[in-house]
Amino acid sequence: MLLQGKKGIIFGALNDQSIAWKVAERAKAEGAEIVLTNAPVALRMGAIKELGTQLDAPVIAADATNEEHLEKLFNTATEHFGGKIDFVLHSIGMSLNVRKGRTYTDLDYGFFQKTLDISAVSFHKVLQTAWKLDAVNEWGSILALSYIAAQRTFPDYNDMADAKALLESIARTFGYHFANEKKVRVNTISQSPTMTTAGSGVKGFQEFFDYADKMSPLGNASAESCADFCLTLFSDHTRMITMQNLYHDGGFSSMGMSPALLPAIE
Ligand SMILES: NC(=O)c1ccc[n+]([C@@H]2O[C@H](COP(=O)([O-])OP(=O)(O)OC[C@H]3O[C@@H](n4cnc5c(N)ncnc54)[C@H](O)[C@@H]3O)[C@@H](O)[C@H]2O)c1
Repeated sequence: MLLQGKKGIIFGALNDQSIAWKVAERAKAEGAEIVLTNAPVALRMGAIKELGTQLDAPVIAADATNEEHLEKLFNTATEHFGGKIDFVLHSIGMSLNVRKGRTYTDLDYGFFQKTLDISAVSFHKVLQTAWKLDAVNEWGSILALSYIAAQRTFPDYNDMADAKALLESIARTFGYHFANEKKVRVNTISQSPTMTTAGSGVKGFQEFFDYADKMSPLGNASAESCADFCLTLFSDHTRMITMQNLYHDGGFSSMGMSPALLPAIE
């Protein structure tokens, strides 16, 4: 009961592969009350409504790039809970360049703007909405999910790499303001490649996944273990962690070369 009495909003549960889906299940099992949200199109696909029923959680449609939707979401959630919230998970990513097979040297700039807006600026909008509505309790915790392509080059990750770099920067900068004025922490988790709808959209994802699995001495971190890590960051045991990008990757980010890869090369 790590999250007993805590209330949170979870963005991004699309289907039972989604990292946000696992976080929602685990948060509820640890005693939290949650509100689920996703883009209107994701709600029409239906699976998130089943999760809502299963977890006894309201499901509220909100396009995370739309400030009016976000304001309505936070107001409805605080009304539902009868008070402020304690945690938020931003688990949102999408690139039309990746989806439509545009390479990094041939980006469509309209798509690029959308990538940044959906995958990074939306996090600023979530933070700014929560800030202006003063919707988060002291010692609350706001998290977004990132990937190591923010620091190192993974060519096929394409314009999502730029989005993740911006996302992590927003967490640091807004994290300062939230810590300083409201005692709320803001962090990103940099997760291993994970078999989800967003993940498997990346070109050559299976090879990418296998490579990371071999490079990481603990192997790739699963969505379930990512959910466990998210819960620790929502809990009261991590109150002094803020403005961080935390690698949750089985050791991948500290490796230079792994003997486990040699047979494949030889
Ligand atoms: N899967 C991986 O390999 C991996 C690795 C590291 C980080 N991440 C990150 O984890 C997060 C969750 O992705 P996932 O892997 O669970 O995939 P997913 O496809 O299950 O989740 C992505 C979610 O983003 C939502 N979304 C897209 N546009 C939106 C909008 N305008 N408004 C609101 N929601 C919108 C989708 O509906 C979906 O629920 C993303 O930030 C992703 O970049 C994933």
